[in-house]
Amino acid sequence: MYASLSPEAIKWGLPPYDRARIERWTSNPTNSIILIARLEETVVGHLQVFQFPFDRRKGVAELFIYIHQDFQNAGLGTAMMMRAIELAKDQGLHRFGLTVVADNHRAIKVYEKVGFKKEGTARDTFYGDDERYHDEVQMGITL
Ligand SMILES: CC(C)(COP(=O)(O)OP(=O)(O)OC[C@H]1O[C@@H](n2cnc3c(N)ncnc32)[C@H](O)[C@@H]1OP(=O)(O)O)[C@@H](O)C(=O)NCCC(=O)NCCS
Repeated sequence: MYASLSPEAIKWGLPPYDRARIERWTSNPTNSIILIARLEETVVGHLQVFQFPFDRRKGVAELFIYIHQDFQNAGLGTAMMMRAIELAKDQGLHRFGLTVVADNHRAIKVYEKVGFKKEGTARDTFYGDDERYHDEVQMGITL
C-alpha cells in the first residue's frame, strides 16, 4: 500500500515510507496495536498504535493512520480509529496522542469526530512540498 500512495496522500506525512521502515513498524507487535484494512488481498489502510515502554508513560500511546487514496473519504479512517479506541480501552490503555499538520483538515476532522481534542500548536515544525513551514497540532484523547 505504501509503495502506491500518491504524492497527495503523503503530502502531510513524514516520508520515506520504504520497506525497511514499514517492516520495522510492523515486525515487533510488542506494545503495539496494528490494524490493517484489506480489500481481498490488497491492503488499503493501516493504523498503528505505539505504546511507550516507560513506566512514567504507563498506558500512554501514540498513533498514526494511512488510508490509500482510492479508499479515502468513505468512512474507513473513522471506522479504524473507533476500532483502535475500542481495542485500547479493552487493553486498559489510558491515552492516545498524535501530531498532525494544521493544514491536514480531513485528518483533524476525523480525529475530532472520534473524540480527540486539540491540545496545542507547535509553530513552523513541518516543511512542506510547497517549500514552506507549517504548524503542527498536538491532539489527544483520554480513553
Ligand atoms: C486522514 C485519513 C486517515 C482520514 O481517513 P478517511 O477514511 O479518508 O476519512 P473518513 O472518510 O472516515 O472521514 C473523513 C471526514 O472528513 C471530512 N472531510 C473531507 N475532506 C475534508 C476537508 N478538506 N476539510 C475538512 N473535513 C474534510 C469528510 O466530510 C468526513 O467527515 P464526515 O464523515 O463528518 O462527513 C485519510 O484520508 C488519510 O489516510 N489521509 C492521508 C494520510 C494522512 O494524512 N494521515 C494522517 C497523518 S497524521
